[in-house]
Amino acid sequence: MRIGILTSGGDAPGMNAAIRALAVVGKARGHEIVGIRNGYLGVLNKDAGPLAADSIEGITRQGGTVLGSSRCLEMTTPDGQTRALTNLKELGLEGLVVVGGNGSLTGAHVLAAKSESLKVVGIPASIDNDVGHAGLAIGVDTAVNTIVGACDRISDTARAHRRCFIVEVMGRNCGFLAMRAGIAAEADAILYGEGGMIEEEVIARLDRMLRRCFAPGREKKRVLIVKSEGCTIPVARLRERVQELLTTIAPGVDARETVLGHVVRGGDPTALDRTLAQRLSFASIVALEAGLSDVMVGWEPPFGVGRETLDPSVRIIPLEEVLAETARLLDGSSPIIQRRMLLLAQVEEVLPG
Ligand code: F6P
Repeated sequence: MRIGILTSGGDAPGMNAAIRALAVVGKARGHEIVGIRNGYLGVLNKDAGPLAADSIEGITRQGGTVLGSSRCLEMTTPDGQTRALTNLKELGLEGLVVVGGNGSLTGAHVLAAKSESLKVVGIPASIDNDVGHAGLAIGVDTAVNTIVGACDRISDTARAHRRCFIVEVMGRNCGFLAMRAGIAAEADAILYGEGGMIEEEVIARLDRMLRRCFAPGREKKRVLIVKSEGCTIPVARLRERVQELLTTIAPGVDARETVLGHVVRGGDPTALDRTLAQRLSFASIVALEAGLSDVMVGWEPPFGVGRETLDPSVRIIPLEEVLAETARLLDGSSPIIQRRMLLLAQVEEVLPG
């Protein structure tokens, strides 16, 4: 087969590992692999070329994506989608592997649905971990480790000055990064958008937490609040409100804020992210060979979801189901979100310590 591969949307550490694995596995199994540059923008500009083995050697350990990425609004329009299909046909592609998050997989679903000849497989890659049935998307583990590392460093300086830090982390509509990293970094509170707490509820929670942290007899040296960007209170405002609380609860303790922003998206992928990328890539090529289309390969999705592959950790799920579950993850109605929030509520009872 002649198979195109592209990386799309917000980049995620491990995308390069996927590019190399797709190229190496594809070639070894007798396929021709074509790299499409800059995601769907490259499809619309017919910007593609062969992936020479030497040009991708050693990229597994690199963050970002050597193919480039884009957020391509034109791909959301019927005109853009028609042009994309025409271009993919003119490029002579029989298969397409899309490595990306929600928007990218939505594009993959549209292309697959509109074409009978082109087989399309998606690989979930997004630090937010907001792709339905993906289990763990490529990039999440690295991002969590980056946040934990940053919080550890911030905790050093916070302890030196007996300060309270608010650390904001990425995660547009999904608090997973804040939750996973916050617990690992010994946060005293974790704030996220799920559940839709209003500002006064958040402040009341922080008030209770700070009173426990600075109760008589305690000599607590640092307070760490990890805030997901999905919790929409601006971080500067939150710091002011926390400072007001501290003035009464722990006079002399200052509050500071740090926004990690795109730092969270960069860096060398962890071994786990490389493994995910390699195994999902292998399964994608095999799925295309089997004539499958309009599907995503997922890493240990929830029990019973999708069909099995040779790899016990990888399952194949129709993109339609993936996107429906993604919508439930984002509007909070997925049982996974409910469970995450329940778990967090239990963790919060023992957090300030
Ligand atoms: O890729 C996901 C993500 O990193 C979100 O966590 C964040 O809100 C968004 O992308 C930022 O996107 P951009 O880099 O386009 O500003």
